[in-house]
Amino acid sequence: MPSEHGCAITGWASALPDRVVTNQDIMTLFDTTDEWIVERTGIRQRRAADGPFVADKPPVNPEGGMGTTAQLAAQAGHGALEKAGLTGADIDLLVLCTTSPDQLVPATSSPLANALGVRGGGMDINAACAGFTYGLVTASGFIATGAQRVLLIGAETLTRITNWADRSNAFLFGDGAGAVVVEAVPGESSLLGWDVGVDGSLQPLFYADHAGTGMTMRGQEVFRKAVRMTVESATKSLEMAKVSTSDIAMFVPHQANVRIMDAVAERLGIPKERIASVIETTGNTSSASIPIALADAVEHGRVSDGDLILFAGFGAGMTWASAVWRWGTGLSR
Ligand code: UT7
Repeated sequence: MPSEHGCAITGWASALPDRVVTNQDIMTLFDTTDEWIVERTGIRQRRAADGPFVADKPPVNPEGGMGTTAQLAAQAGHGALEKAGLTGADIDLLVLCTTSPDQLVPATSSPLANALGVRGGGMDINAACAGFTYGLVTASGFIATGAQRVLLIGAETLTRITNWADRSNAFLFGDGAGAVVVEAVPGESSLLGWDVGVDGSLQPLFYADHAGTGMTMRGQEVFRKAVRMTVESATKSLEMAKVSTSDIAMFVPHQANVRIMDAVAERLGIPKERIASVIETTGNTSSASIPIALADAVEHGRVSDGDLILFAGFGAGMTWASAVWRWGTGLSR
């Protein structure tokens, strides 16, 4: 079906659980130091909805509290809808990107749709830390084939699947959610270029089994592959968009490790001041990290109408995805 309209992000918001977990808190769990974590990752604190820092089990009602993936997603989703001047009833499709769903069945987007009053379609995407960028391409595709409004949310409660005894990676992860409304607008699509990929042979590098002890990662190998895959993917998206890195006003990478973010930006030739970064205070929130960093950059006035944004994520799978997006709400509300 040919597209007769474009798409634009018309609302955005993020949500973090109240509980702050500092590197000093992490030091009570195993032998590590604040200096080591900051130097190796750039992370000083993260938020936790659950894990060893929360005494009680989270409430099960997705409309209240901040203890589950659906609850965090609902708070971010409400914020993005409000910004766009919409309600859940206006949404044709709800896409929840998460690698930490609240249950196996049904998809977490179901209780989330209930909490948000969405009666259009609803589905989860699990592409790990590349999930939100997969979701952005998916949302744009639905708009191109006739949907009017897609609510796209990345939300995680990674602290529930963190192995808090594993000093090699437990300090990395945090909980949070970020959301955007993608709407059909007159004119051209904001998605100028994109690339998605997966290499399933790399599953042993980063996984969590149903009955296992939590996330297991071969950090150094993931680090090396992440840099290479993100640069290759971003280069493909830039080529499809027929732009170069000097045209990119804001680079919004997956927030996994500040050293990875800097290495990718350096290889692409993007100056540090054009990187959107929240990792210092959020840690790695997987599918949520890109929309949280985007909302932060927009709220701080770092993105203007017409600017080109480069999104790029990678994660367990291993998966990767990137997109070049022209910023502008496209609607005069
Ligand atoms: O979200 C997508 C997927 N995840 C990622 O992108 C993460 C990718 N990987 C990384 O970010 C990094 O590999 C880590 C931050 C996880 C680890 O940093 P690293 O620079 O690769 O450290 P390393 O694993 O090579 O360990 C270096 C040293 C080792 O000691 P020796 O052998 O040099 O004596 C470790 O035993 O640091 C030691 N170490 C620690 N020291 C203090 C490992 N964990 C810790 C710790 N505190 N928590």
